[in-house]
Parts: sequence; C-alpha cells; structure tokens
Amino acid sequence: MSVAVIIVAAGRGRRLGGEIPKQYLPLRQKSVIRRSVEVFLREDAVSWLIPVIHPDDRVLCAEALAGLQDSRVLPAVAGGDTRAISVRRGLEALQSYEPNLVLIHDAARPFVPQEVIRDVITALETSDGACAALPVIDALWNSQEGLAQAPIPREGLWRAQTPQGFVFDRILSAHRNHDGTGADDVVVAREAGLDVRLVLGSEQNYKITTQTDLERATRDAELLETPG
Ligand code: CTP
Ligand code: MG
Repeated sequence: MSVAVIIVAAGRGRRLGGEIPKQYLPLRQKSVIRRSVEVFLREDAVSWLIPVIHPDDRVLCAEALAGLQDSRVLPAVAGGDTRAISVRRGLEALQSYEPNLVLIHDAARPFVPQEVIRDVITALETSDGACAALPVIDALWNSQEGLAQAPIPREGLWRAQTPQGFVFDRILSAHRNHDGTGADDVVVAREAGLDVRLVLGSEQNYKITTQTDLERATRDAELLETPG
C-alpha cells in the first residue's frame, strides 16, 4: 500500500491577519508548515508528500522547507481560490505516481499526533475514506439576537479534523465531479457516495485559526521542545 500526503497551505489566513500567512509563521524557530510536514515524514508508510501553496508564497515555502533533504517531498504546486480547488490541484499532481492512498492535511494543524495519522491509514484498510474527528462535548443551542433558543441534540455530532484519508482513485474522481466549494474532503467524498469512517482525533490537533490559537501554538512548541 503506497501512501501519498497532500499538505494544503494555499490559504491566506484572513481570520488571523498579519503580513505573513499563518502557515509560514515561526513557532520557536520552526515554521508551522515545516512542523506539519515533518510529522508526516516521520511515518515510514508515507512515500510522497506534496505541498500545495499560493503562487505568491514560493519563496516563503522554499525557506520554510529548506534543508529537509527527503526525496519523498515533491515540488510544491499552486493551489486555488478555495480549499477544494487546492486539494484537487494536489491530487492531479500526484496522479502520475499512482499512490494507493492519500492523506490530506491542513498545514495549519502542526501538532497532529503520530497515532492519529496511523489510525487514519489503518481505517483505510476497510473503508474508502477515514477522517480524524472529535465528538462534540459542549451543549448546543440556536441563538437569535443574542438570546439562547432551542437546544440541539449533540448525540452523533462530530468536529472534523485532518488528516482525512482516501483511496486515491476514488477521491480524485470525486474531486473532478465536485464544484470546488466543499469545506473539506469528507464533504466531497460523501457527495460521491464514499463511506468515510470516523477515527478519534486529538485536542492537540487543533487548527491555528485565530490569535488565541497562535498563542497556544507558541506555548505548545515551547513545551514540546523544552527538555525534562
Ligand atoms: N487552504 C488552501 N487553499 C485555499 C484555502 C485554504 O490550501 N484556497 C488551506 C489553508 O492554507 C489551511 C487549510 O486549507 O492550511 C485550512 O484552511 P483555513 O484554516 O481556513 O486557512 P485559511 O483559509 O488560510 O484561513 P482563513 O480562512 O482565516 O483565511
Ligand atoms: Mg479558510
């Protein structure tokens, strides 16, 4: 079973703001995207890894990944205006390598545990798709004009994470038939009728989206790298 990885990094990070897109910000010297890439390269099962980046970020990406010296890392390809278009560009670029499986991961989730990656790969032995996710634990209700309304049962509700993994040929054809608007690849897969198994994700696998997330990530990087 050969496994390819797509690291999607073509977004602009508008919610976080700032000059440099969030995936290129340093967390204790090492950038967010480099951390995400290195986690996947630690897995021997991974045969190829392709970054999908914004065309304006070629230099930022080259700097962030400089010196990796791992022949599994393929030249970055340009993404598009939506995440789904970016993923599709990555899939198209991987096609000639004929991977059996592909894992699609947000560059903005640098602390994905090794175990979550392995569990997604394992789930693909018996399913066309697999997604890291966490069950919703807080109570949910609607609100209107700042007032709480009806409760929403949280049973069966999950928060999606990445990696989301798939049988390569199936997700490529699902993306080719998709209109490019899907929020994530599970949406695209479901539209094509693929089964997607839920795999327990991790609270550590949060996506850096806001300033608060960035502060948390800076602290986590310190904890991770402080000896003792
Ligand atoms: N992404 C992408 N191409 C896009 C949009 C998003 O490759 N057109 C990537 C981002 O770089 C990120 C991941 O998809 O790693 C998850 O997206 P998100 O967290 O929403 O990042 P941004 O779109 O960059 O942030 P924002 O929505 O705040 O602008
Ligand atoms: Mg976005």
